Amino acid sequence: MPALVLQNVRKTYPSGDSEIVALDRANLEVPDDQILALVGPSGSGKTTLLSIAGGLLSATEGHVVVGGHHITEYSAKQLTAFRRAEVGFVFQTVNLVPFLTARENVMVAAELAGGAPEKAARARADQLLEELGLAHRAENLPAQLSGGERQRVAIGRALMNEPKLILVDEPTSALDTTLGNQVMALIVGEVKARRTAAIIVTHDTRMTHYADRTVEITDGILAA
Ligand SMILES: Nc1ncnc2c1ncn2[C@@H]1O[C@H](COP(=O)(O)OP(=O)(O)OP(=O)(O)O)[C@@H](O)[C@H]1O
Ligand SMILES: [Mg+2]
Repeated sequence: MPALVLQNVRKTYPSGDSEIVALDRANLEVPDDQILALVGPSGSGKTTLLSIAGGLLSATEGHVVVGGHHITEYSAKQLTAFRRAEVGFVFQTVNLVPFLTARENVMVAAELAGGAPEKAARARADQLLEELGLAHRAENLPAQLSGGERQRVAIGRALMNEPKLILVDEPTSALDTTLGNQVMALIVGEVKARRTAAIIVTHDTRMTHYADRTVEITDGILAA
């Protein structure tokens, strides 16, 4: 079963009297172990596509199926449960909870999904932090971490529930190029090790060699 299927997906945003077409007739299938790089200029619809794939935004038209879940038919409540359990997000702007430690920020994903007992969640969070080179920072608050460290905590949180689909919006402004590349390489390594599907937005064409497939998007249209 594919990790993601988009069928004729269209997304418009209202803009005064008219509308902005952010995504048009998008058709895409991502197999369950594929890393797909999504590249395109600023404003081309990359974040919109990721948000629709992860059930954060609803499509104006078309069908979205994630790991067999027909999310276009889901209620708001079903969507929330779906997102928490099935998808891992790493956003452009890292949004960690400021008053929780690195470990707690990773564990929160499991709590929200209503799953693992605390002891198991803690062990898994520590294992992820170790893999991400953050074992020594587990007790620190986000404000005490560097930009790259915060990004890695966010990756840990995204991987916490072993989602079938990981959606990564490249850190553009938050990180310099070198660090941005390191973080992307880290994500790709983690995703490959888990044989999970991922869509990774990147501006950097040097990053695309990590991906199994690259799809370009221009003005809301995916290249065939
Ligand atoms: N909430 C919104 N309301 C109105 N227009 C929006 C909204 N979000 C995005 N847009 C518009 O939709 C288009 C696609 O935006 P999107 O954020 O998907 O682009 P992007 O490819 O992620 O760009 P970037 O590389 O700069 O992050 C743009 O024209 C943008 O201005
Ligand atoms: Mg974007």
